[in-house]
Amino acid sequence: MSSSSQAALLEVDLQPGKPPILHTRPAGDAVRWAAEHHVALRAVVAEHGSVLVRGLGLRDAAETVAVFHQLARTGLMTEREAFASRRTYAEGVYSSSKWPPNQPMCMHHELSYRLEFPGLMLFACLSAPTKGGATGVADSTAALDALPGDLVERLEREGWMLVRNYNEEVGTSLAEVFGTEDRGAVESYCRANAIEFEWQPDGGLCTWQRRSAVVRHPVTGRRCWFNQIAFLNEWTLDPEVHEFLVDTYGAEGLPFTTRFGGGDPIGEDVVQLLNEVYEAKTMREPWQAGDLMLVDNIRSAHSREPFTGPREVLVGMVDPVRLADCSPTVKVNAG
Ligand SMILES: [Fe+2]
Repeated sequence: MSSSSQAALLEVDLQPGKPPILHTRPAGDAVRWAAEHHVALRAVVAEHGSVLVRGLGLRDAAETVAVFHQLARTGLMTEREAFASRRTYAEGVYSSSKWPPNQPMCMHHELSYRLEFPGLMLFACLSAPTKGGATGVADSTAALDALPGDLVERLEREGWMLVRNYNEEVGTSLAEVFGTEDRGAVESYCRANAIEFEWQPDGGLCTWQRRSAVVRHPVTGRRCWFNQIAFLNEWTLDPEVHEFLVDTYGAEGLPFTTRFGGGDPIGEDVVQLLNEVYEAKTMREPWQAGDLMLVDNIRSAHSREPFTGPREVLVGMVDPVRLADCSPTVKVNAG
């Protein structure tokens, strides 16, 4: 059966400004439903880029872990190079990133700065915030088409650069990011993953990695704006937080920021433009407890909107994709 006829097995509600929504009422339990529908669900994602499944009634972490396992074709990925801490529920099942509830997590593609990243993101909501907190999605080709040609051309040619600084006071730890604190092991990881690094006199570590800003979808060949240039740039930080970090660590010592691939800083106006384009393309639906969401991580960017109240959203990353299989525009040398 073709992918589109698989997708036709499930009736999806398409409304402007919202992600595709699939209403279901499983006769048995959610885990069985996921086992029976995972092929059709993937077909829906292939056709629309994402889908929110409502009515599964996911109740707890154990049930969510079991559902994620049904949906993961080749297992759940272990996260490396995270930019914010997460709680681990089970192997490969995490909380959403710890990020101030009143601050947005702007549109991004998960781990777009790695040489291997998830092709599909799984999200499950166990408790919904009282206000805000949606996981927004935006089509990466639509975002690319809406950007100024000269900016895209430059970033396609130069790529973009993620610069990170690790110290013991702020941001993620070496263990959280590299899975080890051992200097030699961190260096090996960096060499194997095309990350340049420099140990600082105070024991801190600075890393930088250059990546393609535009890739081709490994299945459809569509050109996709695929990066974290805006979200991880210093100008996306809350102005007070930015000022504090620059005062404390210096402009060169921020936990993370992004640059043009050649090393030039990216202006506040460019970052603002990128975030505005995403905002114009954002589709959102407030979470309800029990919801499940699948997002094609290359075709769709996702965000987390500011919220109030409790919010428990579990995350799984599946279908690893190698950057090398996405027609990168920038060459990387991994040792
Ligand atoms: Fe994310």
